[in-house]
Amino acid sequence: MSDRERKTPVAILGATGAVGQRLVQALESHPWFVFAEAVASERSAGKRYGEAAHWLLDSELPAAAAELAVLSPGAPLQSRLVLSALDTATAAELEPLYAERGHLVVSNASKFRMDPRVPLLVPEINPHAAERIREQPWAPQGGGLVTNPNCSVVGIVMALAPLQQTFGLAAVTCVTMQAVSGAGYPGVPSLDILGNVIPDIGGGGEEAKIASEPQKILEADFPLSVAVNRVPVVDGHTISMFVKLRRRASLDEIRRALDGFTGEPQRLKLPTAPERPLQVIDRADRPQPLRDVRRGNGMTVSVGNLRADPVYDARFTVLVHNTVRGAAGAALLNAELLAAKGLLAAPVEVVAEAR
Ligand SMILES: NC(=O)c1ccc[n+]([C@@H]2O[C@H](COP(=O)([O-])OP(=O)(O)OC[C@H]3O[C@@H](n4cnc5c(N)ncnc54)[C@H](OP(=O)(O)O)[C@@H]3O)[C@@H](O)[C@H]2O)c1
Repeated sequence: MSDRERKTPVAILGATGAVGQRLVQALESHPWFVFAEAVASERSAGKRYGEAAHWLLDSELPAAAAELAVLSPGAPLQSRLVLSALDTATAAELEPLYAERGHLVVSNASKFRMDPRVPLLVPEINPHAAERIREQPWAPQGGGLVTNPNCSVVGIVMALAPLQQTFGLAAVTCVTMQAVSGAGYPGVPSLDILGNVIPDIGGGGEEAKIASEPQKILEADFPLSVAVNRVPVVDGHTISMFVKLRRRASLDEIRRALDGFTGEPQRLKLPTAPERPLQVIDRADRPQPLRDVRRGNGMTVSVGNLRADPVYDARFTVLVHNTVRGAAGAALLNAELLAAKGLLAAPVEVVAEAR
């Protein structure tokens, strides 16, 4: 049996897009999973992946991926594990369809994140939530659906989790500066963003996601105020955060809580887990997207410029790689967590019978 045959086959929905390409890139050398099936829109269906995808990344398009035939939306799939990088409207239709057919769908899309039946997973913070797929309506067919958060939210909750666990959170304010790759490809027109800042993303939709997803992940109730901006950066969302704690803490205690944070992926040594999910940089002028976004292969969230705040208790700057830790890497880590928990191990016949 070849190395490729020994690995778990994976299908990618929305494989040709910005996040889909990051998934293809990450799967090229993945020790457990192999990219086996690609689904995209009718515009791409029937073409070879190499022809359909306008490859945006700074590594070569993997040769085996380039040869895959792109399948139509809703086409039958062999892979039980399905990673979804679909836009929300398409996800609303296709993700339950594949879950119903017995596939485990691990999604980047926002459509089902706040659905009480669906885990909104960050494996360092709430790995126990993955177990909820056993009670989902698709469980009898062997299917399921888990989601990862909005790309800014991953950075925000990674910084908030140790503070919530150690001191409790009383109130949080976030101001985001979000990269253009967050809008997918081709994204924001160049004449709108070069030399410019746009103080709105998605007509208020982005702010609504950021204001509600952290509480579901942290299983905590605290007010969160947010203002978003699109800025002319290629990769990396930067967030200025202001935090009021329930228990008084010195800056030293806050720093120690942030820098020492690790979780289940590090304990289980999951392949995509960075050694340090959160890293404090003791400099006022960091983190910066240009210099820090690739830490931990894009999976480490950086925190810097930690200082006291006259209104809140502390303020600091967070940086998250939006298409890696904020999207493709997050989905892959979720899939690895499901595999490590034995949740991928349903019999193949269950999938076949459900079609
Ligand atoms: N970019 C980020 O930083 C980021 C971060 C977190 C979450 N997300 C979420 O991840 C998802 C993908 O984002 P993206 O930035 O990769 O978007 P994108 O670049 O626009 O890619 C969209 C993908 O969906 C496919 N698609 C479009 N309509 C379809 C249809 N009717 N049926 C099947 N496939 C269809 C496209 O295929 P074609 O190439 O054939 O059109 C493409 O592969 C979105 O839900 C987004 O909100 C993105």
